[in-house]
Amino acid sequence: MTMQKNHRITICTSCKHKGTECRPGYELIDALRAAITAAGDALSEDFEVSGVACMAGCDRPCTVAYHGSQKATYLFGDIDPNEDIDDLVTFAKQYAYLHDGWSSSFERPGKLRTSTLARVPSAIIAMETCDVRAS
Ligand code: FES
Repeated sequence: MTMQKNHRITICTSCKHKGTECRPGYELIDALRAAITAAGDALSEDFEVSGVACMAGCDRPCTVAYHGSQKATYLFGDIDPNEDIDDLVTFAKQYAYLHDGWSSSFERPGKLRTSTLARVPSAIIAMETCDVRAS
């Protein structure tokens, strides 16, 4: 039986290292899957790691997104499979416990403090905010 996972990390498989034809997204997916598995069942049973062809952050390779049901979505850029796996795992642990996924830059680990390309509120939170403003 396949368990439904509550969170997803999506990694761009089309990003190229600047000035090369190397696309490190698949390497990043493999390294992050291994690190999340090594972090224990609580994390590995809660996070899916997958790839997508492009997330429109092409000038900041690699891009990595965090999504969760009723949570803010993050898009990070400049992620390096050889340097940033620990920060990605640490943020996954934080993100899992944030009820709305919202965190400020100083709460995020390492490079994720300065490499955030977007933080988008969940659709439900955004609609509630619109309702409040409309009333
Ligand atoms: S090629 Fe990776 S975000 Fe566009």
